[in-house]
Amino acid sequence: MARFRTLDDLDPRGKRVLLRADLNLPVRDGQITDFTRIERLVPTIKELADKGGRVIVCSHFERPKGKVVPEMSLRPMAAALSRALNKPVAFAEDCVGPAAEAAAAALADGGVLLLENTRFHAGEEKNDPALAQGLAKLAEVYVNDAFSAAHRAHASTEGVAKLLPAYAGRLMQQELEALDKALGNPSRPVVAIVGGSKVSTKLDLLGNLSKKVDVLVIGGAMANTFLAAQGHPMGKSLQEAEMHDTALRILDEAKAARCEVLLPRDLVVASRFEANAATRTVPAEAVPADMMALDVGPDTVAVIEDRLRQASTLVWNGPLGAFETPPFDTATVAVAQAVASLGTSAGLKSIGGGGDTVSALRHAGVLERMTYVSTAGGAFLEWLEGKTLPGVAALETAA
Ligand code: 3PG
Repeated sequence: MARFRTLDDLDPRGKRVLLRADLNLPVRDGQITDFTRIERLVPTIKELADKGGRVIVCSHFERPKGKVVPEMSLRPMAAALSRALNKPVAFAEDCVGPAAEAAAAALADGGVLLLENTRFHAGEEKNDPALAQGLAKLAEVYVNDAFSAAHRAHASTEGVAKLLPAYAGRLMQQELEALDKALGNPSRPVVAIVGGSKVSTKLDLLGNLSKKVDVLVIGGAMANTFLAAQGHPMGKSLQEAEMHDTALRILDEAKAARCEVLLPRDLVVASRFEANAATRTVPAEAVPADMMALDVGPDTVAVIEDRLRQASTLVWNGPLGAFETPPFDTATVAVAQAVASLGTSAGLKSIGGGGDTVSALRHAGVLERMTYVSTAGGAFLEWLEGKTLPGVAALETAA
């Protein structure tokens, strides 16, 4: 694993620390609906502040595309941060320039300041050196705790890391160490479960995982594409006809890498995709012409559970069925609960990530029982795909 400096290497006392966080929290009707990213960020801010650092937090929020969009202000997050930290959090109307500089200069040791949305500046997403300079001017050191934004080469995630001594925060460190343990140097056998709707969005993921894991379980609508590519009739099921050759190539590559690919053996089908629709369970090669597959069936769940019993590590991205709409959550919930029990009874290490996966694990009531759940969506996926994350690469130091 590449090396990076952590808070163990930093004495922040009396220093202004620019902390890149990811405060891109889900908000509905002006209310934050999930505080996980704040909760996971708190240890880094507390550690820096308790050691006498002057903490200047910056983040993006949603996608204002370089314009000031009042509804996308980070101001409400200052109150949320203040509650989570149990101390005052100042707010600056801009992330660079006179307002930010004055607020940063006014910080006392142990003080915390939140800057306005970095994406109000067009230079953020363009990784404009002038914006990176403006941010660097505020502080003496830079700490990146935004693993979930590390797939973006932006001024606040990548540019500024090259201008100040750069460190990984505790959350960034935890994410990288957990993922490295899971796939960099895993205890085997490793099972990966990949679900979701489209092969086309997870092509790189399937390719990379089939070379690294021992068993690759493919579920969700993307499994339909594989089954159709093998010549099975899929009725009205969602699938990507143009991806058949690709699906067959992935199966060949997995075979060459001695990775067992588990496709559904049976499927839960319905004539309409709606809650509590009448369902039937059919063999995977016999989906009726007027029906669609919406979940994997109990035989498939039994085979997945069998492989999990033999496994040492599980990496999970994407639900097995259309889990938001019962009863098509059945397989995802059953497998999630099996993972949680095997964690307790057999020490199975389980790592999950991605927006849908986290919702599915929460829905199954097992989120807290996973070994590690990443706060990241896109960044988790890109890491699993084997891509270099610019925000992480910028922190790396020569070994
Ligand atoms: C996320 O929520 O995945 C990160 O905050 C990145 O957001 P983005 O996709 O708008 O860059």
